[in-house]
Amino acid sequence: MSATLSRISDRLEIITASQPANAATLAEDVRNGLLAQPKKLAPKYFYDELGSALFEAITRLPEYYLTRAETEILHELGWEIVRLVRSPIEIVELGSGSANKTRLLIEETLRVQNTLRYCPIDISADALRASATALVDAYPRLSVRAYAADYFSILGSRELQLHRPVLALLLGSNIGNYEPHVMQRLLGAIGASLRRGDGLLVGADLRKDRATLELAYNDPTGVTAAFNKNLLGRLNRELGANFDLRAFDHQVHYDEVRGVVESSLVSRTKQGIRIEKLALEVEFEAGEPLHTESSYKFTTEELSESAKTAGFSLARSWFDRRRYFSLNLFLRL
Ligand code: AVJ
Repeated sequence: MSATLSRISDRLEIITASQPANAATLAEDVRNGLLAQPKKLAPKYFYDELGSALFEAITRLPEYYLTRAETEILHELGWEIVRLVRSPIEIVELGSGSANKTRLLIEETLRVQNTLRYCPIDISADALRASATALVDAYPRLSVRAYAADYFSILGSRELQLHRPVLALLLGSNIGNYEPHVMQRLLGAIGASLRRGDGLLVGADLRKDRATLELAYNDPTGVTAAFNKNLLGRLNRELGANFDLRAFDHQVHYDEVRGVVESSLVSRTKQGIRIEKLALEVEFEAGEPLHTESSYKFTTEELSESAKTAGFSLARSWFDRRRYFSLNLFLRL
């Protein structure tokens, strides 16, 4: 991976994967996804500046219980979580976003050790810069080394220099966005950059009734629909596509056998789309879906199995009062 390092202050550095590489990936992935049958786009591309703002709005929706449930657990049990890994630790977070929930763990960690290094990795450079700056301002004993990149590109690279025992974080049910075999590969890659005794805290949404799940991903305010459609807006802005966002419907379906909420954008009519920068024309049939996101839901048994397969043991799970959501401490064997 080629990258540029900018040192903002003695407590803040930001490492950015080179711009052309990022742009090439978006273009290539969009070409492959729109030529695939059925058509699909990867959810990591939701998070441009507007997409990140829309996701923050989602976390405040009454129907999207995930963030609130996870915050409840961290609030009540963060102290216990931090005390189960040997200190002093460093914290590495995959998909840190605004890092609002992480503050609770940072505060708990700074009760048991004097200084802390925090290494967030996030695909959204804007969200990362804003949250990293706010964190070093808020906590004088914290230093931040932030990576604006895809998780996989950082996990394997020399750029990730870890010195102390590590507590890695994969919160918010981000893990649910991966197909099971890719999730297993991700856990394996995390395990490979950790040492024996290091921890990985995994936030995982739990299986529950269809109505609750489908409402969480199809809120009546329409914020999630806007979040989903912004992916098309992004292709218009960055790749010169001509999607009419009004010509697609946000659609959500919970598959209870596989335990996954599938989100897609369904074309209202038969229409042709041109993507200027890819010199590509694609046809959508009336009613044809473009798959944009899978959000897997778990059981504690499944999580325990996945941990084992990846070389971890599930040391403990914590739940919110309604048992909607779980935090799971994986210990590297
Ligand atoms: C951030 C991937 C966990 O799947 O619940 C929220 C993203 N998509 N509403 C999820 C999302 C629609 C979210 N993750």
